[in-house]
Amino acid sequence: MNKQIGPISLAESRFSQSDVLLSTIFEYMGKMSMETDMHKMLLLLADLGTKLVNADRCTVWLHDKVHNNVWTVAGHGVERIAIPEDEGFVGLSIGTGQVLNVEDAYSDNRFNKAVDLETGYRTRSILCIPILNQEGLVIGAFQAINKQGAARFGSDDETLLTFASTYAGKSLESFILQMELIETQKEIIETLGEIGESRSQETGNHVKRVARYSYTLAILAGLPRAEAQLLKFASPMHDIGKVAIPDSILLKPGKLTDEEFEIMKKHADYGYDVFRKSERQLLKTAAIIARQHHERWDGAGYPLGLKKEQIHIYGRITAIADVFDALGSDRVYKKAWPLEKITAYFAEQRDRQFDGRLVDLFLGNLPQFIEIRDSFADRM
Ligand code: C2E
Ligand code: SIN
Ligand code: SIN
Ligand code: SIN
Ligand code: FE
Ligand code: FE
Repeated sequence: MNKQIGPISLAESRFSQSDVLLSTIFEYMGKMSMETDMHKMLLLLADLGTKLVNADRCTVWLHDKVHNNVWTVAGHGVERIAIPEDEGFVGLSIGTGQVLNVEDAYSDNRFNKAVDLETGYRTRSILCIPILNQEGLVIGAFQAINKQGAARFGSDDETLLTFASTYAGKSLESFILQMELIETQKEIIETLGEIGESRSQETGNHVKRVARYSYTLAILAGLPRAEAQLLKFASPMHDIGKVAIPDSILLKPGKLTDEEFEIMKKHADYGYDVFRKSERQLLKTAAIIARQHHERWDGAGYPLGLKKEQIHIYGRITAIADVFDALGSDRVYKKAWPLEKITAYFAEQRDRQFDGRLVDLFLGNLPQFIEIRDSFADRM
């Protein structure tokens, strides 16, 4: 009796094991096919890897060729972790395209203990499998750590994680292309902004600060995060119209004559003209900002002389961000002001040059703005 039951139950248990495996795979493929967030996708893949090979933990690393590192996310809402591209087993696996299956990481001098030292985790066995894209190029790696119930990962585990990695390669590729597009857009935008500013000898950091001040003020003003982000990407272009202003005016060391200032004022409409025809949300935002960042709450601004809420909230926000930065910086025509003079100016211009509600939010949360100012300071 027992002899008969033995093999049958063994077969049954094998069957049920692969059944569980299959349903796990289908469950995750379903979730992943609907995922639109790159970080969540990485976490789903990592979860799948953990279950497939029965590891204590598993991470999916991606190669960032621009910054020469490999990076991952370790949990929901957690910042990315990056390590140099040539470090540790992950780096090796990505660099060589090799599968690495190591029983005791610490006895292998290719292992970098830095991450363990930081986290207090004790790595023992590691299985690292490269992730390839459609063209067969390595774009990242799966790393499973600490096989549960055994000293090391087996060849079954290699097969299963290779399966996950093949799937990952296909599904991550479109995310990576999308990220590259977004990164490219951001770079073009910052470069455009810097062109506008560099003609007037302002630094690239000016546009970065204005971007972040605008974002912070937008969040404080209660705009949705997506809109605040739009403002962050578009506000660096506020002065792009300065490219059309002659150097004799733009770089004049002293005060402008009224006539010169009239020409200077045209930079707002020149900037607007650059973007006005676009149907893209980001460039429409840039058009509004370029045109309205010198309007004043009391109606005495330019180019249109709009008043109060006639000025788009993007224009009112960028006006504060731009002037805060301009006053705190040296220009060809003026020296930087000390902070007390700047805050006094904003208080005095409450409901005159600027929207008073925004001035209150700005002055009431000054440390956030000072922090941005300090972390993107001009080094000379
Ligand atoms: P910007 O240098 O980026 O300054 C942006 C805005 O910051 C100015 O817009 C103004 O609202 C504020 N701001 C900057 N410096 C001062 C200041 O010393 N006092 C006060 N009260 N506000 C200041 P605005 O005035 O419409 O000027 C637009 C652009 O025109 C400036 O951009 C700058 O490129 C140019 N500009 C303005 N005045 C002069 C000047 O006297 N000489 C030269 N060479 N350029 C000037
Ligand atoms: C690895 O464990 O190989 C990557 C992390 C590290 O460098 O410690
Ligand atoms: C990693 O390299 O994936 C991190 C290892 C750890 O969690 O300590
Ligand atoms: C200026 O004309 O330079 C100052 C204008 C302003 O304070 O709005
Ligand atoms: Fe301007
Ligand atoms: Fe500016």
